[in-house]
Amino acid sequence: MEQLVRRASDLLGQTFGNGPQVVSAAPGRVNLIGEHTDYNEGYVLPCAIDRWTVAAVRPSTDRVWRVVSDAYPGEVVEIPLEASCDPQGPQWSRYIQGVLVWWLRQRGELPGAAVALTSNVPVGGGLSSSAALEVAIATALEGLTGQRLDPVQKALACQWAEHQYAGVPCGLMDQLTAVVGEADCAVLIDCRTNRFRPVPFDTQRYAIVVMDSGVRHELAQGEYAARRQDCQEAAAILSRSHPHVWTLRDVTITMLEEHRDQLGERLLRRARHVVTENHRTATAAAALVSGDYELLGQLMVESQSSLAGDYEVSCEELDLLVDSALGGGALGARLTGGGFGGSAIALVPAAQVGDLIATVQRDAKQQLGREIRVERVRPSGGATLIAAPHL
Ligand code: GLA
Repeated sequence: MEQLVRRASDLLGQTFGNGPQVVSAAPGRVNLIGEHTDYNEGYVLPCAIDRWTVAAVRPSTDRVWRVVSDAYPGEVVEIPLEASCDPQGPQWSRYIQGVLVWWLRQRGELPGAAVALTSNVPVGGGLSSSAALEVAIATALEGLTGQRLDPVQKALACQWAEHQYAGVPCGLMDQLTAVVGEADCAVLIDCRTNRFRPVPFDTQRYAIVVMDSGVRHELAQGEYAARRQDCQEAAAILSRSHPHVWTLRDVTITMLEEHRDQLGERLLRRARHVVTENHRTATAAAALVSGDYELLGQLMVESQSSLAGDYEVSCEELDLLVDSALGGGALGARLTGGGFGGSAIALVPAAQVGDLIATVQRDAKQQLGREIRVERVRPSGGATLIAAPHL
């Protein structure tokens, strides 16, 4: 992270002539298990990872944020500080605009600023680069103003930014993980109450390896919204006979069997994924607590087959990476995040990381005809202020 901080400070100085007053960082994430459950008020078990987005910020006296990012060299985006402004500017700057607008509406005035961003969270890689950016900005605002946000409120602010300003109807998992992640831990989140608790992950003996499929699916956003819609419809149908059903969190497998005909094939399969995934996630958290990594791995494999079969959010490349990892000694492997491309993860004994990486890289080269990024990530802490006048 030090290197990213140095680069952000240098970039700020080179572009705007002065160093930062506030520096914040927020991590990407992998999700061990609990996929497409967050917007159904279910359980998720993600980890923040040691990949970061860093924001170096220097307040100014005008009403504009001027932002430069090392991902888009030479481009300075101007974001006006207006609470009623529509989304504008390139897509990446809208995450920032959304967080600024939330703050102006909910928390009050902000100074203008010059901002430089650096990141090693790959964009579109399924590791939540957008949440890392939103949370890095919200954290910088805490540093600039000296006002602290409650962790859940902070995550909700960033989710609001993503819904309203980037047009992505995401759940809360990514933002909350980027805020509350803990070193060497996964976080079990109950997305009904937004309560969360760290669950230790034994990084001495086990490793998480990320395999980036390199696929950036154009349809992903529309398909994501369509899955949400399917889940809502399924819950609405079931609530006619079971009034206590509010979301798929309240649904059991028996209910699905009983109402097969009303649901129809597609909604039955979507709902079956969510109901079984919730169960797998609760079991996986217990397995992690008791140190049963074999069981955690098995549940990850079951999750993948449910995501590919019932939920239809995998793709050929992700399936291939998962199979390759399992063939190369992983205890479990599955896509992570929304799917349709992005990354898969593998759970592997730490001693076998090198072999696994070599196997997956070789298989990808042979079967996909290209090099892919395969690397170990470590469960890390959540967003942090590295420099601020109020620290
Ligand atoms: C994306 C969303 C999350 C979650 C996952 C699927 O990452 O941002 O809220 O819904 O997909 O589990």
